[in-house]
Amino acid sequence: MGAYHIIGGNILSGEIKVQGSKNSSLPILAATVLNPYKSTIYDVPDIKDISIMIDILRFLGAKISRKANTIVIDSSNIKTWEVPEYLMRKMRSSIILMGALLGRFGEVRVSYPGGCEIGPRPIDLHLKGLAQMGVNLQERHGFIFAEAKNLMGADIHFDFPSVGATENLMLAGVLAKGDTILRNVAKEPEIVDLQNFLNKMGADVKGAGTDTIKIRGCNIRDLNVVEDYTVIPDRIAAGTYLVAAAITRGDVILKNVVMEHMEPILAKLRETGCKISCHDDFIQLSAQNPLYSLDSLRTLPYPGFPTDMQAPMMAFLTTVDGTSILTETVFENRFKHAEELKRMGANITINGNTAIIKGVKKLTGAKVEANDLRAGAALIIAALAAEGKTCVEGSTHVERGYENIEGNLSRLGAKIVKID
Ligand code: EPZ
Repeated sequence: MGAYHIIGGNILSGEIKVQGSKNSSLPILAATVLNPYKSTIYDVPDIKDISIMIDILRFLGAKISRKANTIVIDSSNIKTWEVPEYLMRKMRSSIILMGALLGRFGEVRVSYPGGCEIGPRPIDLHLKGLAQMGVNLQERHGFIFAEAKNLMGADIHFDFPSVGATENLMLAGVLAKGDTILRNVAKEPEIVDLQNFLNKMGADVKGAGTDTIKIRGCNIRDLNVVEDYTVIPDRIAAGTYLVAAAITRGDVILKNVVMEHMEPILAKLRETGCKISCHDDFIQLSAQNPLYSLDSLRTLPYPGFPTDMQAPMMAFLTTVDGTSILTETVFENRFKHAEELKRMGANITINGNTAIIKGVKKLTGAKVEANDLRAGAALIIAALAAEGKTCVEGSTHVERGYENIEGNLSRLGAKIVKID
């Protein structure tokens, strides 16, 4: 399973470059299925989830070369629309291949996706939208068979601004007949990045970042080679490193950030008393006591405070004097890290989807277990400030989303090693 061994107590300082966005790269890689030509994509993070997506695309017939953070994909030879179950179950976001495969081939066979243990993770909004586009869906034995002789544009209103459902239906709309309007969509920066990539590919997508997205269906012959596309920086990885600095009362500089994407996170860090200065392409954070607890921190769809930052932020707040109230409104079961933080001396009471965090003078090192990607990051963050040694088991969860987190934190002065 692999583990991180951390000796707490060092104050982080220095400068690192933030990785490209995992949650942008995954839908953009899925989008290349629509395009029978080559796409060259830069700043793709070197993480496990990307490797899984590459394995799936290669299984479908794509030719892919990967050099550091550059990926070249030739999708001309993609000829199968069945995604193998053993790969589907490794990563939830593989479900967005449905829209792309339906657009390219008019049919797809996938199994129900796997993913993090942070809630049931249903896909009803995906399937409801596809059905409105004329897709005939059959579910049996844990598989979904979908086919659409003619994928038709539709006017679709989402019950909830689901990120994945928004991406799936954007991809399905690109080669559909007629126009598709998506309403009450997710407004995350990664949705805008996907729109920009699709338009660079020759598609016609407008409105990403607002409540309504319009996709003008086009013919596959209208698409073209994507010579070079650079993925946006990962705002969650950036937020994770800022919180790592804050818990050690350190002073760090992050390069390769988009300030606007960071705002929801920076606003809450400033509220705790962190000093943050924003420059053209870097952020500096310094955190000296006194720091202040947060009366109310609620996770919400963008531009609210991101749910992916909830666990890292909880870890930080366990060391801030006073009582912080944290409410998770996006996922049903995303507090598993609280029990592990309590093994390190944190004072956290969970009441439904609300966590009451009372700051303690110090955390103590312990053996703890990561249950999902962001929970693992939170435990590493807590270990940086804990007295003595901490062993965070389950490094494979963390490697899914963070490129070389141990190298980056070491560069900032942390004592951390990864044991495979
Ligand atoms: C994306 O997941 C991200 N993953 C998640 O990041 C992120 O936490 C989430 O969006 C919210 O921002 C990727 O982009 C690869 P949703 P996704 O559909 O698309 C419910 C990380 O740590 N829902 O917006 O799965 C669902 O149960 C990961 O990087 C339905 O009810 O999120 C959840 O409660 C974790 N029916 C809520 O919506 C549906 O059909 C948000 O889900 C779809 C979703």
